[in-house]
Amino acid sequence: MAKLVVNETKELGKIQEEIYGHFAEHLGRCIYEGLYVGEDSVIPNRNGMRTDVVEALKEMKIPVLRWPGGCFADEYHWKDGIGPKENRKKMINTHWGGVVEDNSFGTHEFMELCEQLGCKTYINGNLGSGTVQEMSEWVEYLTFDGISPMADLRKRNGHEKAWKVDYFGVGNENWGCGGNMTPEHYANEYRRYQTYVRNYNPEHPIYKICGGANVDDYSWTKGVLETTHRNCLPAFHGLMDGLSLHYYVHPEGWELKGSATDFDEQVWYKTLAKAIYIETLIKRHSSVMDQYDPDKKIGMIVDEWGCWFKVEPGTNPGFLYQQNTMRDALVAGISLNIFNKNCDRVKMANIAQMVNVLQSVILTEGEKMVLTPTYHVFHMYQKHQNATLLESHVVTEKIGASEEYMVPKIHESVSKGEDGWITLTISNLSANANERMELIFSDLKVKEITGQILSAPIHAHNTFEAPETVGRKNFDKFEQNGNVICFTLPPHSVMEIRVR
Ligand code: AHR
Repeated sequence: MAKLVVNETKELGKIQEEIYGHFAEHLGRCIYEGLYVGEDSVIPNRNGMRTDVVEALKEMKIPVLRWPGGCFADEYHWKDGIGPKENRKKMINTHWGGVVEDNSFGTHEFMELCEQLGCKTYINGNLGSGTVQEMSEWVEYLTFDGISPMADLRKRNGHEKAWKVDYFGVGNENWGCGGNMTPEHYANEYRRYQTYVRNYNPEHPIYKICGGANVDDYSWTKGVLETTHRNCLPAFHGLMDGLSLHYYVHPEGWELKGSATDFDEQVWYKTLAKAIYIETLIKRHSSVMDQYDPDKKIGMIVDEWGCWFKVEPGTNPGFLYQQNTMRDALVAGISLNIFNKNCDRVKMANIAQMVNVLQSVILTEGEKMVLTPTYHVFHMYQKHQNATLLESHVVTEKIGASEEYMVPKIHESVSKGEDGWITLTISNLSANANERMELIFSDLKVKEITGQILSAPIHAHNTFEAPETVGRKNFDKFEQNGNVICFTLPPHSVMEIRVR
């Protein structure tokens, strides 16, 4: 029996909706085919965007989308992606399969996509191979409403009004694919580039994101903050609003990666233990950040996270196309619980990547589309968006297949929405055992309770032939006794409970 204790009187902060953000790079079949098929496609679309995918994403509630990369961002020259499509330059996508990028999806198309999705915009600029002028002109093109060379160019290209840019990343992984820089060098470049990311719309200032560390590279975090804070007035907190962090779960190491669908119990627990490790990363990077930013004004932006496995057999290795099982669902459930619980520091997170790449929420093949187990987790967790984190604690045993990779059997987070409903998201990490749960509130006398569950064998996944193998189901097997609610959580399952 596990006990989940909720102190609904203790509110711990706001869970920004951006924690449920996504990422779409010019990589493999994410943008092209996955999201954008062009206006002349036989696949139903609106202004080139696949209607089926857009509708499914809207239903899942997508708050923010990051684009155009990733590594691609530091090779992307935005002017190649505007104006009449037939005149757009073609380039080689050197990072991702060496394929030709025809730039038919560019700035206008991205803004159109976000408009259709009803989500905020996160654009990642090119610091690695672009100029300060290029970055500065992109911001002017996007957001300046007066008379200027870039605003005029935008108007000539058919968009009269300036758009709103919510987030702007100044480079990506500049310790690696974004220029192989040292933290000090990058931070000095950051200081210069971000100066020209102007706020043309004072009522809607751009949230500037500085390129942060990979995994446990705390010296990057320290080096960057040291340099950006040097001679910087405290009110400008290091000239940034957010600092990024990237972490991928490779259960069998970066080299081997391991199969997305073929794994044993040992690897199951290893994967989940590695997913839980993100909490250690958040806490440790955050404590380095505390030295420069004790009031937590700088947000931690986990703008790339998720499982990274071997590509599906027979697919282009540069396209990073992988299947998605109940194991991915558990990784998503755990990670989102951890982001919720660290919402004092984590202000945005973007799973990599939205469609057909890495831990996607949607897979497509021609005109077909399937929703992955990860999609269903995001769908079940949507009520956490903009809710208030509540204090919760779970008493549970540690389980695993080896000493090294033990995990708690039960994992949770709890929030309260403005409508007064409390949302609990709870996972059973066991590969084979049920758990009897006792849910205890400090004061609340529960009047109404609803539940949804995602439960299927550990390797279960949705295919184009069998697209509904894994799906959400309603759950109502609750037994109530005063302020205690009992139920049984099946093994390897993710559940959403709502009470008031
Ligand atoms: O998401 C795939 C790649 O992983 C991104 O382009 C890069 O930023 C990271 O290394």
